[in-house]
Amino acid sequence: MYSPDQTKALQKLTTGLMEKNSQGHITDKDIESLRDALRFHEHRYYILNDPLIADFEYDQLYKALEKLETENPALRTPDSPTQRVAKELTKEFPTVSHLVPMLSLDNSYNADDLVDFDRRARELAKVDVLEYCVEPKFDGASISLIFEKDMLARGATRGNGVQGDDITTNIKQIRSIPLSAAISKYGLEQLEIRGEVLMTKQNFKKYNDQLAEQNLPPLANPRNAAAGTLRIKDPKEVSKRNLEAFLYHVSHYTQLPGKDVDPILNTHSGCLTMLWELGFRSPLKEKKVLNGIEAVIAYCHEFEQQRDDLPYEIDGMVIKVNDIHLHDVLGMTTHHPRWAIAYKFKARQATSKLRAVEFQVGRTGSVTPVAKIDPVPIGGVTVGSISLFNEEVIKDKDLMIGDTVLVERAGDVIPYIVKSLPELRTGNEQKIVFPTHCPVCGDKLEKPEEEAVWRCSNINCEAQVVERIIHFTSKDAMDIRGLGEANIRKFFALGFLKDVPGIYELPFDNIGTLEGFGKKSITNLQTAIENSKAQPIHRLIYALGIRYVGETTAKTLAHSVKHLLDLKDYSLEELQNLEDIGPKVAGSVHQFFQNPDNIATLQKLEQLGLKLKNDKKDLVTGGNLSGQTFLFTGTLPTLKRSDAEAMVETNGGKILSSVSANLTYLVAGEEAGSKLEKAKKITSIKIITEAEFLSLIHH
Ligand code: IVH
Repeated sequence: MYSPDQTKALQKLTTGLMEKNSQGHITDKDIESLRDALRFHEHRYYILNDPLIADFEYDQLYKALEKLETENPALRTPDSPTQRVAKELTKEFPTVSHLVPMLSLDNSYNADDLVDFDRRARELAKVDVLEYCVEPKFDGASISLIFEKDMLARGATRGNGVQGDDITTNIKQIRSIPLSAAISKYGLEQLEIRGEVLMTKQNFKKYNDQLAEQNLPPLANPRNAAAGTLRIKDPKEVSKRNLEAFLYHVSHYTQLPGKDVDPILNTHSGCLTMLWELGFRSPLKEKKVLNGIEAVIAYCHEFEQQRDDLPYEIDGMVIKVNDIHLHDVLGMTTHHPRWAIAYKFKARQATSKLRAVEFQVGRTGSVTPVAKIDPVPIGGVTVGSISLFNEEVIKDKDLMIGDTVLVERAGDVIPYIVKSLPELRTGNEQKIVFPTHCPVCGDKLEKPEEEAVWRCSNINCEAQVVERIIHFTSKDAMDIRGLGEANIRKFFALGFLKDVPGIYELPFDNIGTLEGFGKKSITNLQTAIENSKAQPIHRLIYALGIRYVGETTAKTLAHSVKHLLDLKDYSLEELQNLEDIGPKVAGSVHQFFQNPDNIATLQKLEQLGLKLKNDKKDLVTGGNLSGQTFLFTGTLPTLKRSDAEAMVETNGGKILSSVSANLTYLVAGEEAGSKLEKAKKITSIKIITEAEFLSLIHH
């Protein structure tokens, strides 16, 4: 897309713009350069995954562009990077017709199916050997985009294949889809392309964690998450979910009058190259052009091995005849083209029998139904227990004991019951009865009206206490290795551990007499417990297991206090004034810190040696370099550049990549060159030595 020379030129342009911006010298004349620079950096970030400037620097330039466009709306263009943002909620998604129906693909499951496909295709094409383009089959939601006169004109869902929903505003939230593409360079006036919108496994996990924090059932797989997100009527929310898109098919185009269509469009692999050059993410690197079906089969097997290493889900490979002219010769059925076939990987679904439902009590007292099924292997793991989240899920899926159920386990995702198969019922199935009393302590269960979860409100309920201890020690909380779930349950049952402070008073003499606890494992455990006392307070806040307080909220809370117990002096309103804390979270935090038992526990933990004071160095935000920016130049006398930069970041400062008025400190070592010269001209920048830098850190 961008040649090395263009890259260099755009990087130079960026540095110039940053400098001008910091001096307040940006004018209307820079508007197109600003847009070019921002588009270039979006491509580096979202397509190549290799940014050349810091997020903060991108934001500065973006803001400068936004300001210019607000001051002079006539200069705004529809493909400006600012035009992705939509403030209005979408009322409805109008139905639109695809230029060419979006067909499905025929499926194959083994090498024999592919050999058959190849034979049929060769017969129809009347050739001995066919050239194929083989690429991943992305497991997301399919979309169709239309570009007209180099501009994104429309984005639509597949719908029924003939008509879909116009979701253009949501499509614009996907930063790897460019808002304009120079199709005229290829002799095209209009272009319709197809692709798949995905949510990466990482973003999917993040999203499900957020749902879990709110006690909502998670989504089954990234495909559902992507499809669901495309239908959200709030574009801002869509933007937050960080969807990505691969474009893999040219379905229709019209020629620019008086221009020839580029011959690159004669092959499918050429189309992928064109899409990449136009700035889309196409499977250019993932695809392979191969002669004959044997090579195709080998590549499919090879790719299947990498399936779990990819950042997104794929459910197979797609094999396409590479010569586009043969597509017409081969034609299509009403359902699928005869020039392409999907090769599906081993399914991550299986059927099994639902034998029982158990009810587990969590650390906040929530009672979760857990399905016990006949163990089945899915994607290399045997699945026997599956969370059903809440009563609603049981009702929605119409589950009964004895039912045959369809189970899915996508990638790293927890297993999930997709549905029951009521047509297989024998009449002996039994209703699932939700308990009215806590299965552990016997207290009556309660369910606040607005919630989906039944709760045991006895905070001394043994199940809750054990779960709280397990959460407290977990990896993202206090990270006490060696005190895993099994040991906690064992120590609790033996009376060695009764509550969270008890972790720091474990009777090691008694533990030493237990089987499996040698000297070494005891020393390791003691060290892990001892080390946890110095964990930063945001971890401790998270470890307390306050309802709705995940890691992000814990950091926000930690950031706002000098001592953890200061939180008891916060009013509901003050809590709500903190970043990203809404009434629900504030209510829960307030309730927690107004409870004298909780305060007593925290005081006890402090007496036992845990750190409750906010040692500001723990927090990236709010460190003693917070709000300050740094740039290193020349050779530093003792520090490695990367270590020095890491020190800045762990202390809350930011690293800039070039000299501008946004820079607070330039740390200059030996043989500092042009950056130092530049910095000398901007009076607000403080030029310091390594020694002075170190004294700032240790201040
Ligand atoms: S080509 C006319 N290529 O799989 C053929 N489809 O099961 C157009 N899919 O509806 C489709 N990755 O949503 C093609 N590399 C790929 C694909 C792909 C995923 C989806 C697509 C299609 C479905 C068929």
